[in-house]
Amino acid sequence: MDRIDYIREAISIYDFSNASILDAGTGKSSARFLVDLKPKVLTCVAFTGDIRKGKTTEEILQLADNYQYKVIYGDLADSKLFSDNSFDFILADQLLGELAVSKVMPTLENFYRWLSPGGKVFIADREFYQKPEIQYEYVSMGETKGNANLSVRSNQDIVELIGLFLAIPKEIILFDGKERNFDYPSLWISLWLGHVGYKKIAQSFFESEISLKKEFLGRLEWARQRIGGITNRDLKSGLLKELEILVNEFDGRNIGDEEVFLRKYFFFQAEK
Ligand SMILES: C[S@@+](CC[C@H](N)C(=O)[O-])C[C@H]1O[C@@H](n2cnc3c(N)ncnc32)[C@H](O)[C@@H]1O
Repeated sequence: MDRIDYIREAISIYDFSNASILDAGTGKSSARFLVDLKPKVLTCVAFTGDIRKGKTTEEILQLADNYQYKVIYGDLADSKLFSDNSFDFILADQLLGELAVSKVMPTLENFYRWLSPGGKVFIADREFYQKPEIQYEYVSMGETKGNANLSVRSNQDIVELIGLFLAIPKEIILFDGKERNFDYPSLWISLWLGHVGYKKIAQSFFESEISLKKEFLGRLEWARQRIGGITNRDLKSGLLKELEILVNEFDGRNIGDEEVFLRKYFFFQAEK
C-alpha cells in the first residue's frame, strides 16, 4: 500500500474542514495530500535552506490558490517557530528520520506545545526492525510432494541481533550533528511520545513497495556525501572500500527498474 494511502485511510474519521494543519517536514506527497483534505489553514514547513522541498510545495499550494495555505522555512526543534495552541493537527511524514537525535525530543515537545488541547499528531516513518529468524535446513522432503521436514540449523540470528541492535547507535555516533538520517525504531518513538505527555498513543504498521534501484542509488549518494565529510582518513578509506564492494555487487546483479521490495513503516496517532 502507498504510504499516503495508508495515512489517508487511518485518519479518515476526522473532519478537517475547519482545521489548522501543520505539515511538519513538507514535500510533494504530504503537501498534495493535505491540500486535498481542504483544511481551513495549512502551514507547510521545510528546513531552513531546503529550497528544493520548499519550492515543490509552493507550486502545489499555488494551485490550491488559498491565501491561508503557506510554506515556511525554519527549524522544527525551535520552539519559537509557532505560538502555543496554533494547530488542530500535525502531520510528520518521514520527518523524524531526518532529524539528528538531539532534535527529536525538542521537536516532539514543540508539536505538543503548538497543538491546541485535544489536537492530534500523526507520525509516519520507516521502521527499523529486527526480526529474529532461526536458520532451518531440510532434513527430508521424501517424495517431492508433502510438507518439508525442517530442522534448526543455527541460532546465529540471536548473535547477529546484537549487531543490529548496535547499528543505530553506531550510525548516530558516526553521523551525529548532521541532519539526516536514522530509522528510529518505533519503540523509541512510542517511549518519547509518552515522556512528552501525549495521551491515547496508538500505533500501527504497514508495508509499502519501494523501487530497489532508486532506493539503492539514493542511499549510495547519501553514504558518499556523509563519508566524504569524515575527517579521519583511515575510517574514510575503510568505509569507501566497503562501499565499492557494494557498488560492484549491485552492478553485477543487473537490477531492473521494475524490481521492488517491501518496506515496513510505523504510524502513530497521539493526542494532546
Ligand atoms: C523526507 S522529507 C518529507 C517528505 C514529505 N513529507 C513528502 O511527503 O514528500 C523531510 C522534510 O523535513 C524537512 N526537515 C528536516 N529537518 C527539519 C528541521 N529540523 N526542521 C524543519 N524541517 C525539517 C526537510 O526540509 C523536508 O522538507
